[in-house]
Amino acid sequence: MSTSKKRQILVTGAAGRVGTAFYQAAGADYDLYLADKETSKLHGLPHQLIELDTTDPKACLCACQGMDTVLHLAANPNPEANFESLLAVNILGTHNVFQAAKAAHCRRVVFASSAQAVEGYPLDVQVTPHMLPQPKNLYGVSKCFGESLASYFAYQEGLPIIAVRIACFEEFMAGKAETARDMSAYISRRDLVQLLVRCIEAPLATPFAIVHGVSNNRFKRLDLTTTTQLLGYAPQDDSFELLGFNLMG
Ligand SMILES: NC(=O)c1ccc[n+]([C@@H]2O[C@H](COP(=O)([O-])OP(=O)(O)OC[C@H]3O[C@@H](n4cnc5c(N)ncnc54)[C@H](O)[C@@H]3O)[C@@H](O)[C@H]2O)c1
Repeated sequence: MSTSKKRQILVTGAAGRVGTAFYQAAGADYDLYLADKETSKLHGLPHQLIELDTTDPKACLCACQGMDTVLHLAANPNPEANFESLLAVNILGTHNVFQAAKAAHCRRVVFASSAQAVEGYPLDVQVTPHMLPQPKNLYGVSKCFGESLASYFAYQEGLPIIAVRIACFEEFMAGKAETARDMSAYISRRDLVQLLVRCIEAPLATPFAIVHGVSNNRFKRLDLTTTTQLLGYAPQDDSFELLGFNLMG
């Protein structure tokens, strides 16, 4: 067990794109335990490594011991995934991680949900966290399950959880063609890291919240009012500016 005063954070799915962005930018501020079922990419980093398959409930219990916060990223993130492939990691794995975090008396879980939980709304509708879920695919359904499960664990089992609907975390470069949807859903690396840090650090008025994860795009697929009010999230980037659109008017 570490003697450092930094928060001990278990990051599941740490070898993926979001996990990598997080440990690269915020790794010095936390005592990180990077967990993934495939850890080869994580060797040599100045963090603790845990080979963890979240479909194994006992391994999740072990990994959560002594953790302050769990950043739960491990998932199949493919919007076209079929039900069988989502069942193990997105459904069972998420249950195992929440159950283990509760048993280990973790202070908080931050759950990576997705804009796909509400992607069924027409593209000219800006979605707020108070609107009913409307997934467009089974991956989105699995994230709706995760959000419901998070609400259950928060209100009925006493484990505070923030579900953050990450939208479109991709590299945007000037000159590259992007769809209008992706531009309005874009979240930059530094905005995503800021948001995850605020999800970890912000005082919570309620045990459960859904917050939205987009940058300060001129047009936003997801409304940011709750995210800014609850967490003080202050996004710095705008996909339209990044791609060279004239925003003077
Ligand atoms: N990247 C995005 O634009 C985006 C958008 C919305 C939501 N999300 C969510 O954010 C999270 C991270 O996404 P990402 O883009 O980094 O995905 P990714 O595919 O890059 O990383 C996922 C990681 O999870 C690991 N993993 C898979 N199954 C596992 C298991 N059973 N046990 C332990 N580890 C397992 C994989 O090895 C991988 O390293 C996911 O929950 C995803 O649904 C991402």
